[in-house]
Amino acid sequence: MTELQKVLVPREELQRRVQELGAEISRDYEGQELILIGILKGAAVFMADLMREITFPVGIDFMAVSSYGNAATTSGAVIIRKDIDTDIRGKHILLVEDLIDTGLTLKHLKEHFLNSGALSVRICTILNKPSRRLADVEVEYSGIEIPDEFVVGYGLDYAEQYRNLPEVWVVATE
Ligand code: PRP
Ligand code: MN
Ligand code: MG
Repeated sequence: MTELQKVLVPREELQRRVQELGAEISRDYEGQELILIGILKGAAVFMADLMREITFPVGIDFMAVSSYGNAATTSGAVIIRKDIDTDIRGKHILLVEDLIDTGLTLKHLKEHFLNSGALSVRICTILNKPSRRLADVEVEYSGIEIPDEFVVGYGLDYAEQYRNLPEVWVVATE
C-alpha cells in the first residue's frame, strides 16, 4: 500500500526555481545554438516548464534509458530505449532531468553525448539528492536539493503513478 505523506516542494517553489534556472540558462547560452534533451519519462513536466523560461529559440528532443542490470552494478552503463533524432554534432547540449540520485544515469549520458560529437554537455535537474551520489558528475544547473526520501509528483513516479501531481510529495511505502 502506498500513501501520500506530505508536500515536500510546493508548486510556487518549483515555479520560482524553474524561472531562475531558465533565466540563468538564457544568460549563459545567449547567441549560441542549444538543444535541450529531456530524459523520459520523469523529465517531461520540468522540460515543458523550463523550455518556456528560455528567452531564445532552442531545439528540443527526448530520450528514454534504463539502467543496465541491478542497482548494485555501479558501472553506470544504461540501455537506450528511445534515442534522439536530432543531429547534435557541434552543438551545445543541455540534459534535462527531474532528479539526480546516484548520478550514474547522467554520468553515462554525458560521456555518451561527448563521444557523439557534442560541442558541450551540461546537466540541469529540478531535484537533486546529493546524499545518494555514487558517480562523480558535475551538475551545472541544480534546482532544489532534497533529503533521501521517496518522492513523487512533478514528473516523478512510484510504480508509474503520481507523475501528474503538481507538487513534489513524500510517499510512505510498505
Ligand atoms: C529516475 C529519474 C532519473 C534517474 C536518476 O528515472 O527520473 O532519470 O532515475 O537516477 P540516478 O541518478 O540514480 O541514475 P527512472 O529510471 O525512475 O525512470 P522514469 O524517469 O521513467 O521514472
Ligand atoms: Mn528518469
Ligand atoms: Mg521512475
